[in-house]
Amino acid sequence: MQKNPSKKYRPFPPVALPDRQWPGRVLTHAPRWCSVDLRDGNQALAVPMNVSQKLELFQTLVKTGFKEIEVGFPSASNTEFAFNRRLIEEKRAPDNVWLQVLVQAREDLIERTVESLLGAKKVIIHMYNSTSPAQRRVVFGMSRKEIIQVAVRGAQWIKDRLPRLKGTEVMLQYSPESFSATEVEFAKEISEAVMAVWRPTPGRKMILNLPDTVEVAMPNVYADQIEWMCRNIENREALIVSLHTHNDRCTGVAATELGLLAGADRVEGTLFGNGERTGNLDIVTVALNLYQHGIDPKLDFSNLNSIIDVYERCTGMTVPARQPYAGELVFTAFSGSHQDAIKKGLAERKRGKQKYWDVPYLTIDPADIGRKYREVIRVNSQSGKGGVAYLLESEFGIVLPKDMQREFGPIANDEVDKLGREVSAAELKTMFWREYIERAKPWQLKGFETGSKNGIVKCRAKLLRHGQPVELAGEGNGPLAALVHGFSRARGPRFEIVNYSEHALSSGEEAVAIAYIQIKDPDGRSRWGAGVDTNIELASVRAVLSALNRL
Ligand code: KIV
Ligand code: ZN
Repeated sequence: MQKNPSKKYRPFPPVALPDRQWPGRVLTHAPRWCSVDLRDGNQALAVPMNVSQKLELFQTLVKTGFKEIEVGFPSASNTEFAFNRRLIEEKRAPDNVWLQVLVQAREDLIERTVESLLGAKKVIIHMYNSTSPAQRRVVFGMSRKEIIQVAVRGAQWIKDRLPRLKGTEVMLQYSPESFSATEVEFAKEISEAVMAVWRPTPGRKMILNLPDTVEVAMPNVYADQIEWMCRNIENREALIVSLHTHNDRCTGVAATELGLLAGADRVEGTLFGNGERTGNLDIVTVALNLYQHGIDPKLDFSNLNSIIDVYERCTGMTVPARQPYAGELVFTAFSGSHQDAIKKGLAERKRGKQKYWDVPYLTIDPADIGRKYREVIRVNSQSGKGGVAYLLESEFGIVLPKDMQREFGPIANDEVDKLGREVSAAELKTMFWREYIERAKPWQLKGFETGSKNGIVKCRAKLLRHGQPVELAGEGNGPLAALVHGFSRARGPRFEIVNYSEHALSSGEEAVAIAYIQIKDPDGRSRWGAGVDTNIELASVRAVLSALNRL
């Protein structure tokens, strides 16, 4: 790296807009969305999609609710042309969906593009040429005037061919490519020159797409550029101002959201942000960010997992585990305090105490997009008692009493710490079993019988103590009281039962019950025990022995 980067790189000049309005605004409705997965996204794949993959993705986009879909660059290759024809001839697009095609401002390409659209119901012809100083100088070696001529000629060639598209509803779109690196005054000039050819009206608007082709500044600068254009361009009411951001500085989503505040009407992007270099705008994130604020995004992500499946299968890309809303780990809490807070939030909701979603750490209800918080599958040494208890309950139906969670949580964490890695729910259950259920020393149960007369329960317990047989007999107001009495009569350990709970672990004929018991000895030491049996009485006796074995 450079010792002094200012010798090689320069800051991006701000836009002169001292009375900018966008910082004080809030978003209130969804924009028009346009998916460019089949064009901008597809172009950037190591192995571009074949026709059947494109068709599958197209159908998924339609099902998700996209009404504008850029399906390709039909003049660029026979495959793109054939795909476009197939969509039209097989009437794959519903009547309310616009097929968008991209073309450069070249007559031969425009001719081929128009041919590819014959017979379509609704199309958007999207023409672009690049406008930034670097593109003008380095790539085209053209003056501003010449660059404007390129755009105007292209606009005219398209206009001349529109009569050929009789019966097709056509919307026109112009992009001054590399807009965000272009002087705003020049972007206005070239856009107005194209408008002068296409003559949009408020009743027959054209789309003016203002791309952040390469992110070169902070998102507030893009917002200023958009607001500047919206306020200064002539005949704004005849325009649908559209955003198309990339993610080079990792602020594609922010740039789009601020661009919407700045007055744009439409957003182009891809599912999960696939696209050239660092990708395009991730439409899923912007849509669900709106949803999080109670705004209907007009896109349906109720089954996000199935969209991810199609996307990954068709593009060969993977959605990263931390991708907002969609990543595998997004609704997984590892930290103990987070797990605890989420558990409390979900419980408050369940009690009907929340009007609006207010669960800490979960920005939206995962169920709304077909996902589950239950996807927590591991704990680490930081997970805390809440996480440990949650896993045992959600995966195995083991509902530890609160106080027992406080005992077992640190035990589990110590074990996990020693292992130095995360453990699965199954491993956690093994730890629990080892700690409570499988302890057989010093006390082990061989038999337990009870009988009752006049409200007095008598018990006979056959036990092993360090492998030696011991028989106890006792009485009390219940089987456990009788057992405690039996121990004290036989001069065994003295203790009292301070906590008891039980529940079924499975149902049906072979139903198994689990009992949890906390005992306290005369020195005030207390321990929890747990026992499992098909007979609930025996489960609780085992739980007493488990607790004694842990004293
Ligand atoms: O990123 C970009 O500028 C584009 C244009 C063609 C709109 O993809
Ligand atoms: Zn792009």
